[in-house]
Amino acid sequence: MSAIRLCMLGCGRVARTHSKVARSLGGIELCFASRSLENAVAYNTRYGGVAAFGSYEEACADPRVDAVVICTPHAFHLDHVRLATRGGKAVLIEKPVARTLAELTEIEVAVQVAGTIAMVAENYHFKPAVRVLRQHIDGGDVGQVLFVELNRAGRQRPTGWRADAALMGGGALLEGGVHWVNYLCRVGGAVREVCAARPEVDRALVAPFEDGLEVLVRFESGAVGKLLHAWSVTNRLAGLGLSKIYGTEGNITFESNGLFALVTGQRTRLRFPGVGDLMGYRAMLRHFVECVRERREPDMSLAVARRDLAVVVAAYRSLESRRFEPLATKD
Ligand SMILES: NC(=O)c1ccc[n+]([C@@H]2O[C@H](COP(=O)([O-])OP(=O)(O)OC[C@H]3O[C@@H](n4cnc5c(N)ncnc54)[C@H](OP(=O)(O)O)[C@@H]3O)[C@@H](O)[C@H]2O)c1
Repeated sequence: MSAIRLCMLGCGRVARTHSKVARSLGGIELCFASRSLENAVAYNTRYGGVAAFGSYEEACADPRVDAVVICTPHAFHLDHVRLATRGGKAVLIEKPVARTLAELTEIEVAVQVAGTIAMVAENYHFKPAVRVLRQHIDGGDVGQVLFVELNRAGRQRPTGWRADAALMGGGALLEGGVHWVNYLCRVGGAVREVCAARPEVDRALVAPFEDGLEVLVRFESGAVGKLLHAWSVTNRLAGLGLSKIYGTEGNITFESNGLFALVTGQRTRLRFPGVGDLMGYRAMLRHFVECVRERREPDMSLAVARRDLAVVVAAYRSLESRRFEPLATKD
């Protein structure tokens, strides 16, 4: 089986994460594209790559590149998807997929016209904790799920493009919280409506637009979900938190990131979903490479990313209306 040649578009922080994972997986030849050739060469040397490009255009025009990982800020994802798909490349697009549903529609059009494989790099979709929680829910260990509560609270001080309102196009829930929205939907299922609230306390925000929200959702199943996502509070437990699923026959109490899950229901089990790939990056990249090889639709598709982004958009609409908002089916 020949190696897939995978190019990082944009050599920043997340490109480093994917490069380390790609090297550990094998079967991938890495290359790097940056707006600065010097930066691309430095990444190429550091991660044992096979080519460095001084522009994204050059990489996307190179017939030896099979696929690209779009590692740029989300304000540029549409431009970079257009560039890559015009070159016939498969695309792994960092989350959040875009700033708006309208931008996502343009991404969908570009992918459809080119007929390439597209996946969103939503690693939470591949977290071991999700698999374990679903096993217990689907196995009936907690009966009917009534409430899902996810808590992610800590301190983050965005800088650079994350502090730029126009480039962000939203706040903490869009940039970081979209991971947790995906998590909530993976555990609770499809969402019907969303209501959000923010603290109305006189203080400076740490991020554009919003730096922390409580989001309440009603799932299609009728169950209720709650997500606390905040960049604005102190968490002396290094980002750890507790979350809980409440069912008619039992509960699952779990460390929010998935370090452990205590099932107290039809039977009692203490589970450790696994720290080897706690964040799901390995499973995610392996899945993308398989989909490129086999030319099949990835699980973390643009349609799934649309669902997640629609929850964020509905939450933001609800901040204005102060009511539950349905998920938008259109832009
Ligand atoms: N899945 C995850 O866990 C995860 C984690 C972190 C970030 N992300 C996502 O990954 C994307 C990149 O985030 P990051 O943390 O890697 O950001 P970053 O460290 O700032 O890197 C972004 C890279 O994008 C390129 N770029 C192109 N145009 C740019 C512009 N106008 N301003 C700034 N950079 C520009 C730059 O690369 P060159 O200079 O080399 O061209 C830059 O190094 C975002 O969508 C973010 O939400 C995902």
